[in-house]
Amino acid sequence: MRRSVFAAWIATLALSGLLIGSARADNYPSHPITVIVPFAAGGPSDAMMRILGERMKTTLGEAILIENVTGAGGSIGVGRAVRSPADGYTISFGHLGTHVANGAVYKLGYDLVADLDPVVLLPSNPMIIVSKNAVPARTLSELLAWLKSSPTPAAAGTAGAGSGSHIAGLAFESAAGVKLQYVPYRGTGPALNDLVAGQIDLIVDQTSNSIQQVRAGNIRAYAITDSKRVDSAPDVPTVDEAGLPGFHMTLWSGLWVPKDTPKDIIATLNAAAVTAWADPVVRFRLADIGMGVVPRDQQTPEGLGALQKVDAEKWWPIIRNWGSRRNKRAHLYPEL
Ligand code: MLT
Repeated sequence: MRRSVFAAWIATLALSGLLIGSARADNYPSHPITVIVPFAAGGPSDAMMRILGERMKTTLGEAILIENVTGAGGSIGVGRAVRSPADGYTISFGHLGTHVANGAVYKLGYDLVADLDPVVLLPSNPMIIVSKNAVPARTLSELLAWLKSSPTPAAAGTAGAGSGSHIAGLAFESAAGVKLQYVPYRGTGPALNDLVAGQIDLIVDQTSNSIQQVRAGNIRAYAITDSKRVDSAPDVPTVDEAGLPGFHMTLWSGLWVPKDTPKDIIATLNAAAVTAWADPVVRFRLADIGMGVVPRDQQTPEGLGALQKVDAEKWWPIIRNWGSRRNKRAHLYPEL
């Protein structure tokens, strides 16, 4: 008798868990959702997520709260998301740096592909080469000549080793045959403030971050790392036009959730994000800061997952090679 009562009790427990689970997925979201942005407030990642979050709230009926958890090229914030419950209430914002490059730079303690489920591929950002106004160069060729003739490496701001601005800096060094000294910040928002103040020499930055300061004349832009100019900065040439042909680099971003988050919650989040940037107001705000919207068929969880895998295969060997070549200058790249 007692065994059957116990069995019935276990069955009830299992059923209630199932019901609660399906109920939770059914009435998701029932309270605000937190997006962990692994870089400082006011920077490009934060700005993009705030624009999208505002519009996603309309679709989801619950607020999107931004939590800036910074440090170690974004790997600390991503780690926090990985360790969060798989219930759709904690989302990891990231990009090529945090969700690909960091896998080759740090011993993370989590697996960027296996421990997270992709939700949606977000708008992309071409990079822009910018310097403080005091740099004695007006064109990219003059900048390269200055960098090569300078007795000490120029101070280049980044959001930490493995971040988008760091990987772009390494790619720029490699493409241009120059040397840079990296100055890590908790995001390119604070790095840009120091560039405007003349504390550092340059940043290979996300266009969306620097474009307003370029327009205001507070910093100087040399080239967009793409084959086409951005409409919102028509005077800034492409690297092909400016004398560094083929140095194309666009930073894609995305949203992920802890693995095993219910599929229909992922679908709900994907739909809210896709609806957000289909909104003409959101599109205008993104385009105004130089951001491009990815094609509809890539906006799926699978689209992001596939891109992450392709870029891991492409970038990990390159980054590891940079690491091995730079060991003799380890003081500049302690993490690599
Ligand atoms: C930021 O928001 O600060 C950037 O995404 C950092 C970077 O990766 O360069």
